[in-house]
Amino acid sequence: EKIHNVIFNSSTEGSLTVAREIADLIKDKQKSNANCILGLATGSSPIKVYEELIRIHKEESLSFANVITFNLDEYYPMDKNNIQSYYYFMHEHLFNHVDILPENINIPNGSVSSEDLYEYCIDYEMKIKALGGLDFELLGIGRTGHIGFNEPGSHFNSGTRNITLDHITRVDAAPAFLGIDNVPRKAITMGVGTVRSAKRIVLLGWGISKANILKKTIEGEITSHVPATYLQEHNNTTFVLDKGASTEL
Ligand code: GLP
Repeated sequence: EKIHNVIFNSSTEGSLTVAREIADLIKDKQKSNANCILGLATGSSPIKVYEELIRIHKEESLSFANVITFNLDEYYPMDKNNIQSYYYFMHEHLFNHVDILPENINIPNGSVSSEDLYEYCIDYEMKIKALGGLDFELLGIGRTGHIGFNEPGSHFNSGTRNITLDHITRVDAAPAFLGIDNVPRKAITMGVGTVRSAKRIVLLGWGISKANILKKTIEGEITSHVPATYLQEHNNTTFVLDKGASTEL
């Protein structure tokens, strides 16, 4: 399979389709008594996917007992109890509402000490590899073309590491932090290489504000200036877009 796009009339329709694919994958893995290793994203883009997964869990008794998750990223430094943390976001929007085992939830820890950070990132990467890699990676995209927090300049083979956030990314995060001065300057993110090693990747793009970066990502030359363009070289990636996000394609 080559990279391709699917354009839906609305983000809701697209989200329901993606949630169904994830639910089917979880069920398939259950049939063979296997774990389902999911890479998960934060931001506004995946919220409806998580809502639908919660609905499927409640109304169709889909169990998450065999699901192991790895989140893409976390601000650094960041206390997990802070409402701006991705830890908080994931519990609020998904984990508190399904039967996933707490020990199966992996989110980069934004309060690791700076001395331990390098080793912590290597361990996060190794933990994914030891499980046989990600079965499915869900992505959003930032205005800079970042996936996770892999900002422009990220190497296509990069692993989980500590990065410095782009100014544009901090501007975009400013409202949630009540001002740019409160936005952390750094983050921990899975690498482009970590993401690309997933067996299946789905990137969600909603709304006209993503149209320009999605054109560069899908149709532009592959370059570290737009890290998401590296997905063009992945053989099982789908861009799930709504009408607005696809206006420049
Ligand atoms: C943050 C996250 C990304 C996400 C991006 C877009 O930068 N680290 O993983 O894709 O925001 O967010 P949104 O989906 O709200 O547009």
